[in-house]
Amino acid sequence: MTRIIWMDGVIVDWDDAKIHILTHSFHYGTAVFEGIRCYNAAQGLTIFRLDDHIQRLIDSCKIYSMKLTYSAEQIKKAVLETVKINGSENYYVRPIVYYGYGKMGVNPLPNKVCMAVAAWIWDESTYTNHGGGIRAIVSSWTRIDGRSLPVLAKATANYANSVLARIEAINQGYDEAVLLNSYGRVAEASAENVFIVKDDRLITPPLTAGALRGITRDSILTLARDIGLESSISDFGREDLYLADEIFLCGTAAGIKPVIEIDHRIVSGGKVGGLTKRLSNKFQDVIEGKDNKYSRMWLTPIR
Ligand SMILES: Cc1ncc(COP(=O)(O)O)c(C=O)c1O
Repeated sequence: MTRIIWMDGVIVDWDDAKIHILTHSFHYGTAVFEGIRCYNAAQGLTIFRLDDHIQRLIDSCKIYSMKLTYSAEQIKKAVLETVKINGSENYYVRPIVYYGYGKMGVNPLPNKVCMAVAAWIWDESTYTNHGGGIRAIVSSWTRIDGRSLPVLAKATANYANSVLARIEAINQGYDEAVLLNSYGRVAEASAENVFIVKDDRLITPPLTAGALRGITRDSILTLARDIGLESSISDFGREDLYLADEIFLCGTAAGIKPVIEIDHRIVSGGKVGGLTKRLSNKFQDVIEGKDNKYSRMWLTPIR
């Protein structure tokens, strides 16, 4: 199997894809990245919402004043080339933009802005499944907010907060952590957006709660409208998680992950809820290319 990584336009063997130990972003948390999924769909290998991911990467660069020398079209070509050379698999694709090796010190601007694109098969056992769902806690760590770090940028710095929350959950024997913001409202999970279902209505926190502009979140809100589900974007608290009829998390790596227990409280009888199931089935049809409307809108074929 060919395994390569795209590094600033050069195709490098997986084992040779190395950077200098004094690479600026490695020290100061200033890299920005994307997580994109490839799926084996009815039409063959496709990439899900590629343009939206590339736009978010460009937005992240803008927030961090990174002078990206690649256009959206060039990033798209780099992603497609990486996936094509690696072969037909259900890859997770990781473009990353970072300040390279050069001058150390907090100011990153003297350093070259570099880009790499890697692809690998995501380990689906990241979360332990309990009857199709996961067990979560509300973290003791507060979600970073825009006064300290820009949450809309998918920056490596933000993930220090996520890592602390995930470690806490795992150390307590749980799978995942939901983080509250500094106002005590639900923000998101360590690497997913959060939805609750209450009285047949889907609710997700606004981005201003401290959530990443999740592309899966947006897909779910769109698909919910399509299948006639009511949804709203509004703040809610920890106790709303306890009283929810259903809870699920969503993200590129996780897909749709039902939560069956939160802080020792059982959710939806410890089973995957009906509405979560309906949305998951619809989402699955879309990523498998079985829905023509969304195949045209959201799937980029690899040719
Ligand atoms: C902190 C965080 N929130 C939300 C998400 C979900 O975003 P998306 O659906 O675009 O993958 C992710 C995953 O990328 C994430 O890391």
